[in-house]
Amino acid sequence: MPPSRRVLVVGSGGREHALVWKLIQDGAEVLVAPGNAGTASIAENVPIAATDIPGLLDVARRRGVDLTVVGPEVPLVAGIVDEFTAAGLRIFGPTKRAAQIEGSKSFCKQILHRGDVPTAMFREFRTPAQAREYIEVREDIPVVVKADGLAAGKGVFVCDDRAAALAAIEALAADPLLAAASGNILIEERLDGIEVSVLAITDGRTIVTLPPLQDHKAAHDDDAGPNTGGMGAYCPTPFVDEPLLAEIEARILVPTVHAMRRAKVPFQGVLYAGLMLTAQGPKVLEFNARFGDPECEPLLLRMESSLLELLDATVDRTLETCQPPRWRDGAAVSVVMASEGYPGPVSKGQPIRGLEAAGRLPNVQVFHAATRLADGAVVADGGRVLAVTALGSSLARAKLQAYTAVKEIRWAGAWCRKDISDKGLRRERELLAAEVASEEPAAS
Ligand code: AMP
Ligand code: GLY
Repeated sequence: MPPSRRVLVVGSGGREHALVWKLIQDGAEVLVAPGNAGTASIAENVPIAATDIPGLLDVARRRGVDLTVVGPEVPLVAGIVDEFTAAGLRIFGPTKRAAQIEGSKSFCKQILHRGDVPTAMFREFRTPAQAREYIEVREDIPVVVKADGLAAGKGVFVCDDRAAALAAIEALAADPLLAAASGNILIEERLDGIEVSVLAITDGRTIVTLPPLQDHKAAHDDDAGPNTGGMGAYCPTPFVDEPLLAEIEARILVPTVHAMRRAKVPFQGVLYAGLMLTAQGPKVLEFNARFGDPECEPLLLRMESSLLELLDATVDRTLETCQPPRWRDGAAVSVVMASEGYPGPVSKGQPIRGLEAAGRLPNVQVFHAATRLADGAVVADGGRVLAVTALGSSLARAKLQAYTAVKEIRWAGAWCRKDISDKGLRRERELLAAEVASEEPAAS
């Protein structure tokens, strides 16, 4: 056995638990900062916040870490990659300037424009007053009002009418956090269609496109209720077939990566495209500069080849020489179990029961998203608490197994959406019906 590699994963959510779980399988010895009760059971948690860059640098140096993998966007946008690189440490993720593709919607639109990448038409305003004036006279009304900067999912308002758009501008103007995060306000046309996520790993030149996914952003079944960080995801989604994935790569991912290189802001890391599949083809809603959460969980459950190898090659800019990743057949579904009150304020500290029974089910991984240990017991510690993830030979089987595991788990106030992956299952049935209808009738 070669000596194991020491990797530091930064973050504490379900995405990070999945990264830790996969990197251990790839042969790494893993530290997590700060981690959660799930990561503590398979790796070593170090009590340093994901935003404490000097603290993280110090632990990486002291513990001889040779690769750091950053989960969340906040440290990326704050420049963790620049600081680690300046200190001579290897780290997976984009630089501070490149992370602006997620950190600034205005920067993102500039890159999309340079690359001629399809996206919603938009206008940008320096003050709420200018945005208001524009809305008063704009004819085409379903619009989306967005804060320019990072706003933890709270800076986007999809507005059906003028009054809603004006209220959204007021909300942005009134919220000090959003005002600080944004400065500018963007108003864009509302795109209609099916939303999907396509993630790619890139070293700035070579692009490795990963299987397409679908997230579920609304809190309740049938996409009702408030926006959340994501209530569940599945992989692959039948809304994106091979030709469409090739089109997304050619018209969206490749031109974006090239536009960033030409703008002298090369992107290394995970480029995550949030896309709307419109009647005019796929269009970019947003780019993220990291793995999605919960998208990462079903994705990594399906990944058969080494993630560590891909991350290393990205940092070393040798992705071109890597074999394409291999994926397990079938599908994976991840159901988020949340605390009462989410996405609003939640109470914490309820003991979680049934984790072992759920984890013993075949093809199931219960990734922890917000948990901690209290007197040896696992307790809920936030809004999205668990990402219960299962693999199956079909999407229907993966869904059934994920919900079988969910039924084993309980704590006071726990809830989840019951329809994760249903849009995909309906799509599969439609595709099957179309296939059957197009078959030649049997000769009689
Ligand atoms: P963003 O952070 O820009 O992805 O926006 C968050 C969510 O708002 C997206 O996942 C979409 O559901 C929705 N959204 C954003 N922009 C648009 C748009 N132009 N048209 C329709 N929905 C949008
Ligand atoms: N699941 C959406 C996100 O990670 O931004």
